[in-house]
Amino acid sequence: MLSPELRLSMLQFINVSKRYSDSGEVLSDVSFQLEKGEMAFLTGHSGAGKSTLLKLIPVIERPNKGQILFEGRPINRISKRQVPLLRRKLGLIFQDYRLLHDRSVFDNVALPLLVAGYGQQETARRVRAALDKVGLLRKEKRYPLALSGGEQQRVGIARAIVHKPSLILADEPTGNLDPALASEIMDLFKEFNQVGVTLLVASHNLDLISRFACRTLKLQQGRLIEGG
Ligand SMILES: Nc1ncnc2c1ncn2[C@@H]1O[C@H](COP(=O)(O)OP(=O)(O)O)[C@@H](O)[C@H]1O
Ligand SMILES: [Mg+2]
Repeated sequence: MLSPELRLSMLQFINVSKRYSDSGEVLSDVSFQLEKGEMAFLTGHSGAGKSTLLKLIPVIERPNKGQILFEGRPINRISKRQVPLLRRKLGLIFQDYRLLHDRSVFDNVALPLLVAGYGQQETARRVRAALDKVGLLRKEKRYPLALSGGEQQRVGIARAIVHKPSLILADEPTGNLDPALASEIMDLFKEFNQVGVTLLVASHNLDLISRFACRTLKLQQGRLIEGG
């Protein structure tokens, strides 16, 4: 076992602040560290800054102050050219699934591999492995709108894991699902975590996350008041 000091950090926020051009500070002086292999929830009221915090990691937004390290490397100042490479190491999951409705389940999941230039055979192998993990192997030819909400989110999750990212970021992944389906999705995340995947999951659903023994980072009006 490595001592805690020697374990590699997946993600580190050091005194990060963010404001939008037309807003006050939305994140203030946020510091925390996520270790490799860890799963943490990010919680807080609506408007607390959860989505903003997550958007800083794939550089959808940039911080105004502070430092963000991903796998030990600073990402604040990386050039636009370097952003796609960083994003290939991330798996993003959204509340509204963001699937392409005119593409099959298979093609939706294959997208990140297409972007990364994988060959056809390797793509097919990986897509089926990802669909198998979320229990949708037999629905690869369906179109997203022919699936239930829970199934659509599982397609979104397969797409997020198909390229074996270092870190999975999920923003209210169960926000559109009823409690039973929401639980299933969280169970799935927990299973991924048990085989070593690192996850940061934003959710304001305290009932749901209290059932999982996971570290919780709590934001309140842009400040990290717990778990940092
Ligand atoms: N693109 C934006 N421009 C201006 N203000 C924004 C933008 N996105 C979010 N905000 C504001 O930032 C605050 C935090 O929002 P958000 O990060 O979405 O919080 P949460 O995900 O916790 O609900 C809110 O006050 C919101 O209105
Ligand atoms: Mg949000």
